[in-house]
Amino acid sequence: MTGPLLSAHRITAGYGMLDILHGVSLTVAPGEIVSIIGPNGAGKSTAFKAIVGLLRPRAGSVVFNGAEITGLRPDLVLRRGLAYVPQGRIVFPQMTVLENLEMGAYTVRDEARIADALERVYALFPILRERHGQKAGTMSGGEQQMVAIARALMTAPRLILLDEPSLGLSPKFVALIFDRLVEMKRAGYTLALVEQNAARALAIADRGYVLELGKNRLEGRGAALLADPEVKRLYLGG
Ligand SMILES: Nc1ncnc2c1ncn2[C@@H]1O[C@H](COP(=O)(O)OP(=O)(O)O)[C@@H](O)[C@H]1O
Ligand SMILES: [Mg+2]
Repeated sequence: MTGPLLSAHRITAGYGMLDILHGVSLTVAPGEIVSIIGPNGAGKSTAFKAIVGLLRPRAGSVVFNGAEITGLRPDLVLRRGLAYVPQGRIVFPQMTVLENLEMGAYTVRDEARIADALERVYALFPILRERHGQKAGTMSGGEQQMVAIARALMTAPRLILLDEPSLGLSPKFVALIFDRLVEMKRAGYTLALVEQNAARALAIADRGYVLELGKNRLEGRGAALLADPEVKRLYLGG
């Protein structure tokens, strides 16, 4: 067995003097979808921020693709192949879809590689090819989320962290986004996501983690967590 692609080990991190994460650990293996669930305020977003360097861990380590990246600047983390799609489907509203995608490739100098990345992105999100000249700010929430995800794919990352990709979307787009995540896995991408839609997130996950109060609470196969009585009671409304 090969080692994990990402290993966050006993991360302690927070804001100002306040610790939010108290020794959180998680791993992602190549080719996996890993879903992280848990109540609001559990520290899920904070965990992603600590991993991608937006927040410097006070303790613990982050190892990515065999090298320690703990506390490394976000742009350098991205250059190593770890992309991050923050919560809130942030796009450049005045730019076209294509310009947004090109911005995503700002770390890539080779034009042929950019063209190749664009083709792979369009294969996953055909609507973005159709809409390439449309200003992103005029698209629906679900379409903007596709732009945000597609932009992260433009660097051909080894791993993509997605924070609440389905939050605030209409049911139709929630289904579509989860469908695209599965399609991304099929296309060879490795994904980790934070989701309030626990049922869907665990249903597509190889493995999942439940965080509570800044700590690991449960972990296991996606299907096993879906069937777990405590997970059902707390997060699946059952
Ligand atoms: N920028 C910030 N400054 C101070 N506290 C924050 C900041 N962001 C989040 N927090 C606090 O950290 C805790 C965990 O937040 P977060 O990681 O966003 O939780 P989750 O994503 O699981 O809902 C919450 O109590 C939240 O209020
Ligand atoms: Mg969050």
